[in-house]
Amino acid sequence: MLTMDKVLTSDELIALEDRYGAHNYAPLPVVLSKGRGVFVWDVEGKQYYDFLSAYSAMNQGHCHPRILRALTEQASKLTLTSRAFYNDVLGKYEQYITEYFGYDRVLPMNTGVEGGETAVKLARKWGYLKKGIPVNAAKIIFVTGNFWGRTLAAISSSTDPKSTAGFGPYMPGYQLIPYNDLAALEAALQDPTVAGFMVEPIQGEAGVVVPDENYLPSAYALCQKYNVLFIADEIQTGIARTGRLLCCDYHDFKPDILVLGKALSGGVYPVSAVLARDEIMLNIRPGEHGSTYGGNPLACAVAMEALEVVRDENLADNAFHLGAVFRERMQRNLVEQTDLVTLVRGKGLLNAIVVNDEEHGDLAARICLQLAENGLLAKPTHGNIIRFAPPLVMTMEQLEQCCGIIEQTVLSMD
Ligand SMILES: Cc1ncc(COP(=O)(O)O)c(C=O)c1O
Repeated sequence: MLTMDKVLTSDELIALEDRYGAHNYAPLPVVLSKGRGVFVWDVEGKQYYDFLSAYSAMNQGHCHPRILRALTEQASKLTLTSRAFYNDVLGKYEQYITEYFGYDRVLPMNTGVEGGETAVKLARKWGYLKKGIPVNAAKIIFVTGNFWGRTLAAISSSTDPKSTAGFGPYMPGYQLIPYNDLAALEAALQDPTVAGFMVEPIQGEAGVVVPDENYLPSAYALCQKYNVLFIADEIQTGIARTGRLLCCDYHDFKPDILVLGKALSGGVYPVSAVLARDEIMLNIRPGEHGSTYGGNPLACAVAMEALEVVRDENLADNAFHLGAVFRERMQRNLVEQTDLVTLVRGKGLLNAIVVNDEEHGDLAARICLQLAENGLLAKPTHGNIIRFAPPLVMTMEQLEQCCGIIEQTVLSMD
């Protein structure tokens, strides 16, 4: 019997997913039915702090009233036209977002991975038309530990066997070098068929891996020297998450191609965007790239309001200050107090702790289950790393309370 209209318990809802859904995720056994700001509630009414923010999509907090208003107002007027016709929001959005981030043009897509794929296509096209790379010879350089999604193009650059095994053959035209290694980058850039270098300013899915301070600006300078496009995947790090509007803003350079997603819509709708200069963007001609939903009026209205909220509520500054307090407390009260935590790292409110888990291999998972019990949701990554990325609308008082929950939970595992 169908259960669409029945009120079900968490256990019943988990059983439904288990029975009818593909098993491509392993969620924590928490079933959420409501979210507001920094909080989410499960179907039994238990309240949690959200410390994952849907992998940094909820920077503006759950169900932000301004973003919801923009969504519902636009949804009641016009949602989708496809790009076969003009709509009365896209142009305004294009002007807005290009001025906001300081680029000539934007190419609107939906999911993050489509943004990444669009950037790769743009770099290849530029390589052929502007750099003079022979037909079908263009290469894109990626770094070990990268993550930009789950399509074949994205997993073809992955070094994580969980992402790749059983899904070959892979896309040609990629070269992998170690992350945070400028000598390896310079060696790879000398190949005249290289069109682009795509990199996350901080590797989110790899476990919030922060490169050396000079890595990004030096990598950009090397790309300039060898006439290669620097593509910043700021899908997770962008939109105030790391304490600046973009993580690259910590340095004095502007990526040639900028890829955004996730929090671009405040987590209410899939919206991604690729931004670039004319010289790069105008190489793509009508019919050569696109998406039915990309640039739809609903997405455009939502994204404009989501970006307005980031600015009006000073979310970058808030992330910067709260993040510093978070790392200082984790360092003082965990890293220096217990052997269970070896490291805290991150920028702004994109942080992680590394747990010392040589004995059992499931300590991070057990900590996360206990954190949920104690009213805070986080997820382990790569076995022994726990990422902490709450919505950026968190107050200092809430953050201090959350630090207390995390400290008390971890210390109780000793
Ligand atoms: C840096 C980065 N790029 C791209 C993606 C892919 O985004 P999406 O899942 O929306 O396709 C992710 C998702 O986690 C990401 O963290």
